[in-house]
Formats: sequence, C-alpha cells, structure tokens
Amino acid sequence: MAYIVVTTRAPFSHERSSGKETVRFSTGGVSTSLRMIVGREGGTWVCWGDGSNDRAYPEEIKDNVRIVRVFIGSRERRGFYEGYSNSTLWPLFHYFRDRLKFSRKNFLTYRKVNQDFLEAIKKVYRPGDTVWIHDYQLALLPGLVRKEFPDAGIIFTWHIPWVTGEFFSMLPESEEILRSICSSSFVTFHTGLYVRNFFDSMDQILGSHDSMKGRAFSIPLGIDYAYYQKKSEGIHKSPFAGDQKAIFSVDRMDYTKGLTERANAIETLLETHPELIGKFVYYMAVSPSRTNVKEYQTFKRDLEMSIGRINGRFSSVSWVPIVYMNKKLSDNLLIAFYRFSQVALITPLFDGLNLVSKEFIASSRDGVLIISKFAGSASQLNGAIKVNPNSRLELAESIHSALNMGAEERRVRLEMMKKEVSRHDSAWWSRRIRDLARKISFPEGGRVVEQH
Ligand code: UDP
Ligand code: G6P
Repeated sequence: MAYIVVTTRAPFSHERSSGKETVRFSTGGVSTSLRMIVGREGGTWVCWGDGSNDRAYPEEIKDNVRIVRVFIGSRERRGFYEGYSNSTLWPLFHYFRDRLKFSRKNFLTYRKVNQDFLEAIKKVYRPGDTVWIHDYQLALLPGLVRKEFPDAGIIFTWHIPWVTGEFFSMLPESEEILRSICSSSFVTFHTGLYVRNFFDSMDQILGSHDSMKGRAFSIPLGIDYAYYQKKSEGIHKSPFAGDQKAIFSVDRMDYTKGLTERANAIETLLETHPELIGKFVYYMAVSPSRTNVKEYQTFKRDLEMSIGRINGRFSSVSWVPIVYMNKKLSDNLLIAFYRFSQVALITPLFDGLNLVSKEFIASSRDGVLIISKFAGSASQLNGAIKVNPNSRLELAESIHSALNMGAEERRVRLEMMKKEVSRHDSAWWSRRIRDLARKISFPEGGRVVEQH
C-alpha cells in the first residue's frame, strides 16, 4: 500500500536570494517529525511550495520521497494561511477567544486552497493508495478526497488540541469541517482528551458520534529517539559560557507557548529568591513564525518589552538573567542546548503535543523538565515537574525546585521519561497508524457524510 502524505508545511523549501540558491528546512512539529518518518519509509509528499525558488521545483525526488508542491498566490495565501488557518482555526483550537477572527471570505479562500490540494492529489493518486492528511490547515480535504475517490483509505491526523463541543460550535463553519473530518477512514489525535472533545463536538453539532466510534484514536506523536540520543552523545562541549546553571527553552514565536508568562516567572523568581541573582541564566530561543499575522507581530513586541524590562531590572555588568535568541537554531546547537542545560522550561498555555519536551528528554543526561499541564505530551511525561503556566508563583517555585533538585531524584525522573519517550518513538507512532490503516477500511463508502 503506497502512502500519499499531505501537509501544508513542506519538509524543506528552495530559496533564492542575491542570485544564490539555498535549501531551508522548516520548523514546527509536523514537518520536522514527518521529515524523519517519511524519509525513512518513503512515499509521496504533497505540500505547499512557499519558498522563493520553489516554483523551479514543482516536483522532485529527495532520498526516498517524491515531493509534489502546491502553489498558492499571495492574495489566497492571506485568506488561507494568515487568515482562516492562523487567525481563526489556530486561536479557536487553543481557546484564544479574544484573538479569534470570523471571516466568511477567508473561509471561502480556505476551501478553494483545500481544493487545490485535492487537484495535486488527483495527479498522483493510484487506486489502493492511502492518503494521509495532516492538521487544521487541511480540514476540508478529507471530505473532498472522499467525494473524488469514494473507496480511498484516508487517514486524518490532527496535531493541535481539539476543544470542547461548545467552544468549537462558535465557528460558523463547524458543521462543514466536522463532516469533512468524519469522512476519513479514521482520525488520530495526540491525547484521549482531544478524542473526547471531538466526540463531544459531534454530539453537539451532528447529534451523535456513533459514526466515528472505533474510528477516532489517541496516538501521541513520538520523536526519533535514537537520533537525538546518538547526536547528543557526540557533543562534548557545552554551548554555554560561564558556570551558572542553564535553563533553556526553544519555541516558535507563538502566543500559545506561554513565553511572556515564563519571562514574568523569572522576575517573580528573582524577587522571591534574591539569592539566585547571578546563579543561573535562562536561554530563551524563539524561532520566527507566521510573521505576517498581526497577532504574532504584536505578541513579539510585547514579549520583547517584557524581556527588556526584566533584564533591565536585574542585570549587572557581569550578568543578564534572560538571554533571548530570536532565530532558528541549527540542529547541532539545539541538541547541544538540550544536552547541557540543567532545566528545560516548556510551559505552553495550550499545545497539541510539544515535541521539544521529548527531544530534551532524549538528549539530556541529568536535566530536569518543567512541563505545562496543558501540553499534550504532559500525560506521557510523568517524571517532569508539571505546572499551571498561568500562575507566576507556581512557575517560579517550580524553577526553584528544579534548580535545587538532588542528583538521584533527577536521575530517577529522567530515566522514567527516557523509557516512555524511547518506547513510544516516531517509528512506533507511524507503525500504529499504518497497522490501523491495514485493518480499517471506510465502512460506508462516501455515504455517511454528505458534503455541502
Ligand atoms: N525547532 C527547530 N529549531 C528551532 C525551533 C524549533 O528545529 O529553532 C524544531 C524543534 O526541534 C521541534 C519543532 O521545531 O522538532 C517544534 O515542534 P513542537 O511540537 O515542539 O512545537 P510546534 O512548533 O509544532 O508548535
Ligand atoms: C504547528 C502546527 C503545524 C505547523 C507548525 C508550524 O506545529 O500544528 O501544522 O506546520 O505549527 O507552523 P507554520 O505556520 O510555519 O506551518
């Protein structure tokens, strides 16, 4: 059975600047994890060609993978990507009511771009293939594929949280989106809570979730554990200057990640434990993301103001509490940070899974993980210090405990999490989903769900 993987974010894109061609690897959990999995297992990958030189490569074969690019014009990009995907669905599914924009026009563009992805799939689909569609940018695609190929195996993997039925039903297009997703052969989420919320949404909007019983699963995405372990073993030099303890985090620049709350917690920590002044450094790496979305621009400005204020208040000639790096880190540097930091501070306000927390566990030797209880990965990481990121004091105290934790406790906690993360790695995840694909065929052709 051949797989056609479909995502918006490509594994990499081609760029051209000052006459020079380069390849840019994407950040974000979906493309980084699938890049490794699809690279290992082969297949066709349909994705958005948004690199400045991608039009020179509408199709290419890279290692085992046939990459097919879909091109989106700049006006459509605004309605589809900046608009409906990232100013409507993203805030909706992370419970950010105040940041949510409703726009019918953006929805129509979103539907049109989903149709463009269908056109690309039509060119590569062969009877018997399984189409594996990913994430919120392509929620109408399962319905479109089902209509075109009634017997196709369609897997839909949702990578962000799924909210309660009441919250989801605020979306004017909630029924069309739900019906499309339900025409997949099966759907996977990263936690049992998201599956329950999905069923709750079906109950509220469609009256029942019976048609998806046995066809919606919680299968948390894993990382390539061996890769991080091996790479980290090969790094012997700490990237940190000085002998202070290092607290580290890496995120996309996104208001869901709890970055301002973290900076504020450092301030509270220094107020409540002044003996820690000069004793640690918090290295906060934040890679640029969705830079054309206004909410992201405002968020970046506010975050940088908070960091500046806190550093201004506590810095001395020889010490700065927060080292802020607004750039994408290379793989080697990222793993060196994971390997040598004493504490990883991963405290999103909401996060579908959070791969960074797992990458840290695979790479660390004796570090402590502080994880938000609102990250999907928290339910798997029982050796971590779990926190409510909305409480400055709780966050500050958790950092204090992490910095003071004894070696034996650190070892026991880390070992427990290493076992979990290595057992449920990316190969396990992909195997589980592919096993299901072999067992489950769509029970009722395309008839259960009518597309409007
Ligand atoms: N990442 C990276 N370099 C950076 C920032 C992030 O390679 O500078 C990668 C990180 O290693 C991880 C992914 O981007 O694999 C982020 O995934 P996660 O699930 O933590 O969050 P998302 O960005 O998908 O919300
Ligand atoms: C999250 C989403 C992905 C998305 C990634 C990066 O992980 O679940 O679908 O690809 O963020 O965001 P971007 O907008 O750059 O694709």
